[in-house]
Parts: sequence; C-alpha cells; structure tokens
Amino acid sequence: MFLAQLSDLHFRAQGTKLYDFIDVNSINAEIINRVNALAERPDAVIITGDIVNCGEPGEYRLARRLLSQLDYPLYLIPGNHDNKAYFLDAFAELCPLLGLDADDIAYAVDRFPVRLLFIDSSITGASWGRLSDNTLRWLEKTLSQDDKESYIFMHHPPLAFGSAQMDPIACENGAALLALIERFPQLTRVFCGHVHRMIATQYRQALICSAPATVHQVPYLHSDDRALYSLEPGAMMLHNLVPDVGLVTSYHSFAHFAGPWLYSPQIGCPGDVF
Ligand SMILES: [Fe+2]
Repeated sequence: MFLAQLSDLHFRAQGTKLYDFIDVNSINAEIINRVNALAERPDAVIITGDIVNCGEPGEYRLARRLLSQLDYPLYLIPGNHDNKAYFLDAFAELCPLLGLDADDIAYAVDRFPVRLLFIDSSITGASWGRLSDNTLRWLEKTLSQDDKESYIFMHHPPLAFGSAQMDPIACENGAALLALIERFPQLTRVFCGHVHRMIATQYRQALICSAPATVHQVPYLHSDDRALYSLEPGAMMLHNLVPDVGLVTSYHSFAHFAGPWLYSPQIGCPGDVF
C-alpha cells in the first residue's frame, strides 16, 4: 500500500486568488500534474479537508474540475473551510464512499492490508472541530468488528500540538478519540490536516501526524498566537506500508529544486561503498 496525502488546498473560484494575492488554483493545478507524473505511483490520493477556502459553489466547481484530473482513486473528507452540502455535491461521484448524507460523513476503505477510516470533524460555521455522537458510535462499531490495523484520516488534530495559533481550533472533543486509541490497540495512526504543517506526536500506540498544506503553511510557534501564514513551499505526505516494518511516512516537498542526481563514485569519499 502506497498512499499520497494532500491537505488544505483552499481552492478559490476561477480567476480569484487567496487573500487577493496567492494564486492557489494555479499552484494546486501544477501539484495535481506533478502527483499524476510520479514515477512511483500511489495506490490512492487522500485529501484531509479544506478543499476550498470559502465554501462557495464556484470554488467547488473549479476544485472538482481540477481534482477529477487526478489519475488515482480519491478519498477525501471536509474541513472547516468546506461547506458540507456543496462538498458532497462536488465529490460524491469521484468518491462514492462519501455517501449521501452531508451531515454524517464517515467511511471505511477496506481494499488494503490495513483499514482506512475517514471521518468528518468539521462543524458548520466554526473553525474548531468536533466529532459527532454518530461518528464516535460508527468508529467504535467499526473498530469492534475485528482487530485489523486501522488508520484514521480527519481534518482537525484530536489533541493540542503545542501551537499557540492552532491549538484553540483543534478538535474540541478529541479526548473521545484518544479514549478509542486506548481501547483499540489496532488503531495505530491518526492523520489530519488543518494546521498547515507536518507535526507529529504519539498517543499510546498511535502516531498522530498532521500533513502540510499544498500552498500556504502556518508557522509552528509555541507562544505567538497571531494568525500567521507563509509561502514556505507546499508539500504532501507519502505513506508506504513496508513489509515486516509497518507504515513509513515521508515528506515530499513541492518546492522546485535541482536533482536528484545519480551518485558518482569518482567524486565521493573513499569510505563510500555501494
Ligand atoms: Fe486549512
């Protein structure tokens, strides 16, 4: 199993820029081409929310048009910037597992050696998140079926990462998810978005890790709680299930840079042995 996780694309309507100066649509269109061109192709692309910036129909029209060009199965969930109904209208065809109820998005992907659980942590009209009673019941029921190793994908982190800016808008009842991690040892990963930066910590047996955004990032500051953002290069995470090891997650930058070059023994150190 090899998965690409994108997050927080924040598409705007055609001809519109983010904050009037960031051309998110062009940058995301280029990223979609670069993901399609990967020599080592993922089995699926996952997007952990904030597909668009303002939850507007025109943004979803553009997002759907561009994301439908992804040459992979697509699994996605909404974030706090999404409008659940427009989100479902735009993506139900591309990802039929989303179902038909915009207020109850939770689905499992069972085609891999591990189970992927996608849950909606967003609340209409709020930046912070919450898991509904329905979602928590569904998680408990699904995890009770068997002991297949399982990863959760959600938008909001279920705990505080120590970010003064983002902690107040994390998932407010994330403790309920942490309680499930305690009860179900097969739950070994929680991958989220929202914080526009790759940040990782651990709760019991589970790695809890956020994905970088594709376009604009948020600095990780412990005491400065201002709403800061930057154009530090966007990135995605790649999740590779390695035999006899388990899941290995790596960071794949979308920055433009020279290389990679093939290592040449003529210019290496005498101690290099290949
Ligand atoms: Fe976001």
